[in-house]
Amino acid sequence: MWEAEAKISDEDLIPIRDFIAYKVGVFFEEKKFYFLEKRVQRRIQATNSKNAKEYYRLLSLSDNPDEMTEFINALTTNETYFFRNQPQLESFAEEILPLVLEEKEKKKDYRLRIWSAACSSGDEPYTLAILLQEHLKNYAKWDIQILATDIDTEILDRADLGVYDTRAVKDVPPAMLKKYFHPVSNRYQIVAEVKKLVSFRQINLLDRMVMRQQRDFDFIFCRNVLIYFNDDARKKVVNSLYDAMTPGGFIFLGHSESVGKISAVFKLVKFSKSLSYQK
Ligand SMILES: C[S@@+](CC[C@H](N)C(=O)[O-])C[C@H]1O[C@@H](n2cnc3c(N)ncnc32)[C@H](O)[C@@H]1O
Repeated sequence: MWEAEAKISDEDLIPIRDFIAYKVGVFFEEKKFYFLEKRVQRRIQATNSKNAKEYYRLLSLSDNPDEMTEFINALTTNETYFFRNQPQLESFAEEILPLVLEEKEKKKDYRLRIWSAACSSGDEPYTLAILLQEHLKNYAKWDIQILATDIDTEILDRADLGVYDTRAVKDVPPAMLKKYFHPVSNRYQIVAEVKKLVSFRQINLLDRMVMRQQRDFDFIFCRNVLIYFNDDARKKVVNSLYDAMTPGGFIFLGHSESVGKISAVFKLVKFSKSLSYQK
């Protein structure tokens, strides 16, 4: 019988840490072991495992995807909010989007494909959908799809619901809050017009097979997820995302993340409010 909150040695945490890093990229340095330990302790209890070694065996059995899902859901950091990193979004909507659309119009290509590749509770893809509604001239002419993916199944359910507290919408300009959200008893529900542009799906950024099937994205937003990964996983993800983009397409990372350090495949382009990477 597992004694609740019994200390787990580093020696027992390391194989679990390495297994998770290999499978999903998220890497815990030793100084973050307290966080990992808490989650392992909870899963040991929930699965009635005897100890960390037994739990690791349970987790790493290839026919146990359910425990993997539970564990990953417990490990992920889902911090996000609408209109996160405004200068970058302004750059996207005011400078980069018109540039790409102009090129597409020349080719009479009216398909616009955007991927929010670690979308958490949906704040990011819905923000992008709002920006498109605000900034696209001849909106009706465009065939728009925003794919929003995350590894965490629980957070995807919340994203699909599309209901947010005041903290999530604190940076939404008041006029847009009024236009694109219905107030529902102290909370805000995204309107159907915005919701219909976004489809949610579970994708692990390190799942080679599934990543290979993703194609033809004009824009990819992969923000504030690579910071949790080790270098090897970052490289793999950036290369897969590169393959998933159309030539001339742009990728957007988080504030403290830089493709340049990871891969030389993208071209760095300077815009007035942000730096961006182009294929
Ligand atoms: C901090 S949130 C970032 C949300 C949003 N992109 C933003 O910038 O506000 C990081 C998200 O990455 C997801 N994530 C972590 N590892 C992943 C993986 N291997 N594949 C896909 N998503 C992953 C987490 O579940 C979490 O929802």
